[in-house]
Amino acid sequence: MFQDKTILVTGCAGFLGSWLSKTLVERGAKVIGLDRQYKPESMIHDVKKDAELIDGSVEDLDLLLRIVKDRNIEFIFHLAAQSIVGIANSNPLDTFKSNIEGTWNVLETARQLGQTSDLKDRRLRGIILASSDKAYGDQEVLPYIEDAPMQGRFPYDVSKSCADLIAKSYAISYKVPVCTTRCGNLFGAGDLNMSRIVPDTLWHVLRGQPVTIRSNGKPVRDYLYIKDAVNAYLTLAERMWNDASVHGEAFNISNQAPMSVLDCVDKILEVTGREDLKPIIQGTATREIEEQFLDATKISAMLGWKPQYDFKAGLQETVGWYKELVKGKSDMASIS
Ligand SMILES: NC(=O)c1ccc[n+]([C@@H]2O[C@H](COP(=O)([O-])OP(=O)(O)OC[C@H]3O[C@@H](n4cnc5c(N)ncnc54)[C@H](O)[C@@H]3O)[C@@H](O)[C@H]2O)c1
Repeated sequence: MFQDKTILVTGCAGFLGSWLSKTLVERGAKVIGLDRQYKPESMIHDVKKDAELIDGSVEDLDLLLRIVKDRNIEFIFHLAAQSIVGIANSNPLDTFKSNIEGTWNVLETARQLGQTSDLKDRRLRGIILASSDKAYGDQEVLPYIEDAPMQGRFPYDVSKSCADLIAKSYAISYKVPVCTTRCGNLFGAGDLNMSRIVPDTLWHVLRGQPVTIRSNGKPVRDYLYIKDAVNAYLTLAERMWNDASVHGEAFNISNQAPMSVLDCVDKILEVTGREDLKPIIQGTATREIEEQFLDATKISAMLGWKPQYDFKAGLQETVGWYKELVKGKSDMASIS
C-alpha cells in the first residue's frame, strides 16, 4: 500500500518518528522527514540513505507549505512535539508553540493546498496527528473513551487537548482529511527520552543501580509496545487513504492492560533478572493524574487493529538495544 508513496513524517528523529520512518521505508515509501534535532543515537540515522531528512521546525509555516507542495506529499504523520511532561511544565511557551502552533501549521498547509484543487483531485490523502491520552485530562469515567471531552489542565496535557480540538475543527470546517490518535506510554528500542519510566529504569538497572521513581509509584498508565503503535498508525493511514468516512475521527490505541508505575518497574526487574535492585520511591512528582488508561474498542471494531505484544514480550525485544546504548555512555545527560 505504501510502495512509492510520498510521505512526510514530522518529528522523524524522535522515538515514534524513527520507527514509523523505518517501517515506511521498508514498505517502499519515499519518506521525507522533518525534525529540528537529530540526536546522534536516533534510529532515524539507519534510514538516512533511503529518506530525505530536513532540518527545520513545524513552527515554520512557509517551510511546511514548501515541503508539502514541492514534494507532492501524499500523507503526513504529524508527530513533532515537545513530548516530555517535565520539560513542558518548565517551558510552557515553547511547548505550546511546538505542539499547538506546529499542529495548526500542518493543518493550515493542508487547507491552503486543498483550496487549489477539487476534493477528489487532492494529492494529500490524509494527516494523522499524534494526540495523547493526556489530551483527555482527568476524567471521572475510566477507561477513557473517544467521546470524552478534551480537558487537559497541565501544559503538556493542554497542548494535546488544543491540538486535538484544532484538528477536529479543520476536519469539520474545511474537510481537511485528518484523524487523531491517542496512546498512553509507548516503549521500545530507540526511545532516547531517558526521563521516561522504561528508559530510565533500563538505564539504571543495566548499570546495576536502583532507579528513583519520582511519583509514589501508584499512578496507573497504559504501556504499549512501539511495534503495536506503528502497526496501528499504518492501519489507520491505509483506511484514511481510501475511506473519507473516517476523516475527523479520533482513535484510542491501547492494549488495555494498564498497570502502576511500581508494577512496570517490577516487570523490568524481572525481565532483566535484577529483582535485587528495588526502586527508590521519591514521591515528589506533582501535576500527575492518578489513573489514566484507554478503551480500545473503537479501533478494534472499525479498523480491526489488535495489539500483538504484552508488556513483557515487548520488553524482551527492547533490552538488547538499551544494553548497547548504556555500554558507550557514562552519563545520561549526554543523551537527553
Ligand atoms: N512516546 C509516548 O509515550 C507518547 C504517547 C502519547 C503521545 N505521544 C506523542 O507522539 C508523538 C511522538 O512521540 P515520541 O515519543 O516519538 O516523542 P519524541 O520526543 O521522541 O519525538 C518528538 C520529535 O519531535 C521533534 N520536535 C519537537 N518540536 C519540534 C518542532 N517545533 N519542529 C520540528 N520538530 C520538533 C523533536 O526534536 C523530536 O525528535 C508526540 O507528538 C508525542 O506527544 C507519545
